[in-house]
Amino acid sequence: MTPPVIELRSVVRTYPGEPPVRALDGVDLRIDTGEMVAIIGPSGSGKSTLLNVMGTLDRPTEGSVLIDGVDTRELKERHLCGLRATRLGFVFQSFHLIESARVLDNVANGLLYQGVARAERERRARRALELVGLGERATTKPPKLSGGQRQRVAIARAIVAEPSLILADEPTGNLDSRTSDEVLALLDRLNADLGATIAIITHDHEVAERVPRRITVHDGRVSELTGVGS
Ligand SMILES: Nc1ncnc2c1ncn2[C@@H]1O[C@H](COP(=O)(O)OP(=O)(O)OP(=O)(O)O)[C@@H](O)[C@H]1O
Ligand SMILES: [Mg+2]
Repeated sequence: MTPPVIELRSVVRTYPGEPPVRALDGVDLRIDTGEMVAIIGPSGSGKSTLLNVMGTLDRPTEGSVLIDGVDTRELKERHLCGLRATRLGFVFQSFHLIESARVLDNVANGLLYQGVARAERERRARRALELVGLGERATTKPPKLSGGQRQRVAIARAIVAEPSLILADEPTGNLDSRTSDEVLALLDRLNADLGATIAIITHDHEVAERVPRRITVHDGRVSELTGVGS
């Protein structure tokens, strides 16, 4: 039996302080291959903490995170880096592109860890750019792109290594509504056509309603909404 793409078991994340903040308060969650999941909840509820823990960018204080059945608790940072590079793709609100590097190189860099030869990195990066509709802009640098185009580059970088799971923290947070729609349609298409597994944090209820599975975070606890149409 195939393990879930990601599984959280009794995850607690406490930030030190006076008093300490229990940002995740016993989270159990599993996401299977091919799912698209929206993570919603008020500001400060723990959504980014959840996504960072899912992405092994942050370690739980208690509990465990399994990715493709691998328990990450025992892994040293070096191994976590490898796991992130090969199995996870990240998309952030603020794009995180290298401004001085061509779009093609921004995307191809997503394959550096794998030790893929340069020509092959570029071939795959071009294919990813075509998938996000930016095949023509490979040699452009990010400062010449619109917000929506930048985010599509970031999405190309996230998918270039064909990860098991794409994690997106408010990917449309810096975009106007029309551009947001385009970026979401792209994520929808990656999920529907390519079977990409995606978890997306959003404040936008319209967005969340388009996604079949919705997880709400409240004071560090998760619950599932099963609304009309799901
Ligand atoms: N590095 C940190 N140190 C201390 N407390 C933190 C840290 N990061 C987050 N917190 C606290 O943990 C809680 C959850 O924060 P988190 O960023 O996960 O919320 P969020 O749901 O992503 O909010 P937003 O919608 O505003 O992005 C908040 O109370 C926040 O103040
Ligand atoms: Mg957040």
